Amino acid sequence: MQKPPHNPHDLSQHDLEDILGTIDQEVRQRFGEGKVANYIPSLAKVPIDRFGMALVTIEGSVHTVGDARERFSIQSVSKVHTLTLAMDAIGDALWTRVDREPSGDPFNSLIQLEYEKGIPRNPFMNAGALISADVILSNYDDPEAALLDFMRARSCNVEIGIDETVADCERDTGYRNVALANFIRSFGNLENNVEAVLEFYYRQCSLSMDCVDLARSVQYLADGGHCSSSGTQVTTAEAATRINSLMMTAGTYDAAGDFAFYVGLPAKSGVGGGIVAVVPHVMSICVWSPGLDEKGNSALGRYALHRFTRMTGLSVF
Ligand code: DON
Repeated sequence: MQKPPHNPHDLSQHDLEDILGTIDQEVRQRFGEGKVANYIPSLAKVPIDRFGMALVTIEGSVHTVGDARERFSIQSVSKVHTLTLAMDAIGDALWTRVDREPSGDPFNSLIQLEYEKGIPRNPFMNAGALISADVILSNYDDPEAALLDFMRARSCNVEIGIDETVADCERDTGYRNVALANFIRSFGNLENNVEAVLEFYYRQCSLSMDCVDLARSVQYLADGGHCSSSGTQVTTAEAATRINSLMMTAGTYDAAGDFAFYVGLPAKSGVGGGIVAVVPHVMSICVWSPGLDEKGNSALGRYALHRFTRMTGLSVF
């Protein structure tokens, strides 16, 4: 295997277009791996033979390959953005309501909530994301507008919106989320009514974005809370560091260990096949390919990130 450059953080040492081209070729030969999410019809009909990847450096230059400008349902990737909004709203008080430990259980698991008395293991399980949603509902005058404004500003794309068909399906099939929200409420760990919290959660999952939008949307996590694309200090450097830590330990659910092992970057996945990843102080990344592995993460997205960190030496380890 080719040895990565001595100082991988110096991007002039990499031919990023060439690296992306190689990954794209390799991934396209593997099309068909994984299974498209089938729990809602609007996700099930997305073709499996899609792959896009976008890199956004902290200076704001963008490199793409494949279907990087095709929109998809961001699903749980949105938990990163809602966590940021919740941390900004109530600071450390958030940690009295949600923990910071990896779960080792699937993203929609109910089991730990019973013996941990309604305190979700981390903000990236569905249970934890319901806490972020609740905090946003309590602390922003127009919560949905706050989320949309945040996404549009971070992505420099005013056209970002919610796919109402996906949102309807989430609502129609959200039995487990209904159970989670009611269970958490029974322990007194939700301030707003269950229906309002669930509705916000369904709508955040139903945002439709492409790889460039999503990579830009987490640029602030690569640069101490600063987003050069929108010229904004989005959050504190400390908050950005903490969100990256949580992405590393819990962003890909019960595959977080494997992600650290093979990819070595903080990452957050969604069942629409998108994954965002962060190379601290260097760049943010989004990959998308709809075929999911058995843990609900994009199979070829993970492969692409693995190849990227191996070829560049940009794993954090
Ligand atoms: O909560 C749900 O059922 C979906 N909206 C799943 C969100 C998601 O992407 C979870 N995991 N990868």
